[in-house]
Amino acid sequence: MKNIAGKTVLITGAGMGMGRLFAGKFKDASCKLVLVDIDKQALEKTASELNADAHTYVCDISDKDQIHMLTGRVHEDTGLVDIIVNNAGVLYGYPFSQCPDEVIARTIDVNVKGTMLLTKAFLPDLMSRKSGHIITMASASSLTGVPDLAAYATSKHAIAGFSESLRLEMKKYGFSNIRTTLVYPHFVDTGMVTGVRSSVLLRPKDVVDRVFTALQNNERYVYMPWWLRFIPLLLDVLPTDLGDWILFKTGISRTMETWVGHAKRP
Ligand SMILES: NC(=O)c1ccc[n+]([C@@H]2O[C@H](COP(=O)([O-])OP(=O)(O)OC[C@H]3O[C@@H](n4cnc5c(N)ncnc54)[C@H](O)[C@@H]3O)[C@@H](O)[C@H]2O)c1
Repeated sequence: MKNIAGKTVLITGAGMGMGRLFAGKFKDASCKLVLVDIDKQALEKTASELNADAHTYVCDISDKDQIHMLTGRVHEDTGLVDIIVNNAGVLYGYPFSQCPDEVIARTIDVNVKGTMLLTKAFLPDLMSRKSGHIITMASASSLTGVPDLAAYATSKHAIAGFSESLRLEMKKYGFSNIRTTLVYPHFVDTGMVTGVRSSVLLRPKDVVDRVFTALQNNERYVYMPWWLRFIPLLLDVLPTDLGDWILFKTGISRTMETWVGHAKRP
């Protein structure tokens, strides 16, 4: 099992939800904390609840200039980063035909572009030490389409492709000790999905604990619940209508109808 005590961990979206729990988990593991969020108040709340020596940075990860400033400040304050937790994200539910253009743009900007820019900015830290770990929060919607969630599912498919490409690149270029963990959770009970109608609603703490174990064991993938891993295989081998019937039976077509989330829109 990997010992991460003393390592510097950068967590995006640390202001609430799973990001805040990740911060607590890494604090308990005696890591140095670099906490990033767009929401200043939420970030301050995380820091005060942690009661730990954390460096906090208000930053919109989708903004290249802000990422550039963040990188300089983090290196000045803390030095090189060892572990990146790509956790920040946004989710908005709309039937695609009614989805405002700015919602599409914001979802791709934060979930895809932001995650890639942030990773690119700190990847040289890991490469210079030839070790490190990158955790990326994908989603069950990386594995199948979801009605009324097209922009989000698109972004989460993309981010899974990003993490996998990076994993292979690290191997190709002789950085096999830079590991990646790609996380595919079903719905998790945080503000992001307030109001969703889902038979599966994971506890945020269970997800964070499981991801932490995966990090310690260098696991490449985390599926929660475990049976999610069979979704792509099932949809591939079953006749289309049967696969869709099963998906609809799970309630996937009604999940987002009652969603309110954080009740903010871009
Ligand atoms: N909650 C779920 O059902 C669920 C399921 C699967 C995957 N995920 C993924 O897990 C991750 C964490 O989700 P959560 O449920 O804790 O969500 P959350 O909404 O509780 O927290 C997301 C955090 O990201 C921050 N953030 C948003 N945009 C940002 C930006 N541009 N720059 C910096 N920070 C930004 C928010 O301020 C917030 O603190 C996300 O990537 C999400 O897509 C969530």
